[in-house]
Amino acid sequence: MVDLFSKLKMEAGPLAKYSHLPDDYFFFPKLEGEIGPRMKFNGREVLNWSLNNYLGLANHPEVRKADADATAKYGLASPMGARMMSGNSVLHLEFEKQLADFVKKEDAMLLNFGYQGVLSIIDALVDRKDVIVYDAESHACIIDGVRLHMGKRFVYPHNNMENLEKQLQRATRIADETGGGILVITEGVFGMSGDMGDLKGIVELKKKYNFRLFVDDAHGFGTMGKTGAGAGEEQGVQDQVDLYFSTFAKSMASIGAFVAGPKNILKYLRYSTRSQIFAKSLPFPLVIGGMKRLELLKTRPELKDNLWKIVHAIQDGLADRGFYLGPTKSPVTPVLFKGGVGEAANMAMDLRENFHIFCSVVIYPVVPKDVIMFRIIPTAAHSMADVEETLTAFSELKHKLDEGFYRKEELVSVTKGM
Ligand SMILES: Cc1ncc(COP(=O)(O)O)c(C=O)c1O
Repeated sequence: MVDLFSKLKMEAGPLAKYSHLPDDYFFFPKLEGEIGPRMKFNGREVLNWSLNNYLGLANHPEVRKADADATAKYGLASPMGARMMSGNSVLHLEFEKQLADFVKKEDAMLLNFGYQGVLSIIDALVDRKDVIVYDAESHACIIDGVRLHMGKRFVYPHNNMENLEKQLQRATRIADETGGGILVITEGVFGMSGDMGDLKGIVELKKKYNFRLFVDDAHGFGTMGKTGAGAGEEQGVQDQVDLYFSTFAKSMASIGAFVAGPKNILKYLRYSTRSQIFAKSLPFPLVIGGMKRLELLKTRPELKDNLWKIVHAIQDGLADRGFYLGPTKSPVTPVLFKGGVGEAANMAMDLRENFHIFCSVVIYPVVPKDVIMFRIIPTAAHSMADVEETLTAFSELKHKLDEGFYRKEELVSVTKGM
């Protein structure tokens, strides 16, 4: 046998192999200052496109005041305990009612974190007789929830409705044998590609197959649909989404999440979702601050309008300049290049150090080996001048990549104050 820790070192995971790089440059970067388009990175101001603060609520004065007042009044401890034991309150119930009404569902349940929430909602919904069918590009919280499942699971290639139908046929055969049911899971907006889940296509299959649909709309809530109620509203099928989920970590610029659906199922989930039963409920400042955010999301359409003005400007500007953005239909703006990991690192450093622009760079294994993805997240707080600055920088970056400039350079060691 081996020492457990030495084995971990020997078989470091796919991202751990980059852990020799400084801990706070490509991975675990420290963005400092007030959340917004201008923040500090590596000692300098950068134009920041890396946060899912879609509606610019993180630093909205009314939000900051609501958060501060609630924290002064209640502190962070209240209410203590899990909802089921001692952590319930009128305010939690009120916020749930507001969320349910907004996404047009009978009931909603707050979750203390989105990841744990999704994981254990999936766990609670299915038993070994049931079959899960899910999109291959689903977020880790869905994948990990599916991993807990003791029964059969089938994956379909991203948004491939023909293949989904095949998987549903297989799932139906099994469910007929076991006497179980079928759960289909997708994202409303896929956080990496910006593509929407084909909810319309999925619900069309409900005419032929008997299944329930669970949608994780972390990136669609607040950004998509006429009122901002998400991808289901955008595609006109919200009533066919059986369970609708969103985190508060994106448009709501906070912590926590919720799931919404039929009253009886929400009651079942309240009694069966282990990550909520065995964990502390959301503190009051997050609940009160959450209600303020929801109020702004509902009553200030100009926030979403400005977000989309910036989205269109940057996506159209990039497309006009010959950049490939993949299938995005949402504010998430991936910019895809052909190149290896070394080129990606050099490009990212050039962008950050010389153009003073910060966005996430995504490399293998999240994208294929020869693909470099820069992910731009526009927000309502960005300006048209920010867009212009970025378009100019990206054009120069692309020119240098095409000229082979980033291949010539060895991965430079990243030092402070470079
Ligand atoms: C699609 C999706 N689902 C779930 C989560 C997890 O939410 P949370 O940060 O609240 O745990 C995220 C990321 O935040 C996400 O992007």
